Amino acid sequence: MADSSSVVIRVPASTANLGPGFDCLGLALDIWNETSFTLSGDSISIEITGEGQNQLARNESNLIYRSFYETLEKHAHPVPSGIKISCKNEIPVSSGLGSSATAVITGIYAANSLFNLNLSKVDIFNLAVKYEGHGDNLAASLEGGLVLVFPTESGFHFTKIEAPSMHIVICVPEIQLSTHEARNSLPKTYESSDVVFNISHTVLLVHAFRKRNYSLLKTAMQDRIHQPYRFMLIPGAEKAIYAAYDRGASGVALSGAGPGLIAFCKKSDPSIAKAMQTAFQKEEIRSKTIITETCLKSAHVLID
Ligand code: HSE
Repeated sequence: MADSSSVVIRVPASTANLGPGFDCLGLALDIWNETSFTLSGDSISIEITGEGQNQLARNESNLIYRSFYETLEKHAHPVPSGIKISCKNEIPVSSGLGSSATAVITGIYAANSLFNLNLSKVDIFNLAVKYEGHGDNLAASLEGGLVLVFPTESGFHFTKIEAPSMHIVICVPEIQLSTHEARNSLPKTYESSDVVFNISHTVLLVHAFRKRNYSLLKTAMQDRIHQPYRFMLIPGAEKAIYAAYDRGASGVALSGAGPGLIAFCKKSDPSIAKAMQTAFQKEEIRSKTIITETCLKSAHVLID
């Protein structure tokens, strides 16, 4: 039986890669999805308001429900016959802001909290990685702040990296680009010079964050592993990046697999958002902008 009959879970958005740190770096953002779970009745009811309300499934195939259900099954716990899930979403879906990672974390957190499964953050991460295949967005949402994900023989691990709070401008063009498609666009092999380029720039980026040396970001966020290939799928993206730099952004990159772009800025500056939007408009692509900050808080249970 459940130890409590309702719970509310909050999970922050995240950006991954930050340019060169492909599948390794993740950073939490102050944009949140809040989901309440109530055990009642004998059917599944899913309400969604905000982002994704016209796209996300409201039945058993909903990713939050699937991760909730599979977490219970994996722990040999009976799945409740009736549950009401209510999602208040701020994170745009399929935008490169980790919305699917937040959904997976939400489902696992809810199962853990409602049925006292005693899962640690590391257990939750390990369960969640099975859905995503890579852990950068997951670790950022679970830990808050800047994180490094690294594979070992026993699986993926993550650790937090010291980083300052920063102003963020996001621009998400209205084009369809799934993570699957964006990953399929990447080469299977790379020149060693490109690999060395990315290793050195990833370390430079971490150094820049730790030293709060924002003047290094533009150089440090260069990448040769994924962005050049993905830009071919996102008309206007490179021009939007140049436009953000022209307006004074410190560092700009594709957010995760895209299509969203993320700019790190010294101040909250709507003109950077406007400049990126204008670059996409020139390609006749509409876009949405979000002005936010990095987030040190992590996924948590709001009401238990
Ligand atoms: N690191 C991942 C990628 C993030 O770039 O494909 C997307 O979820």
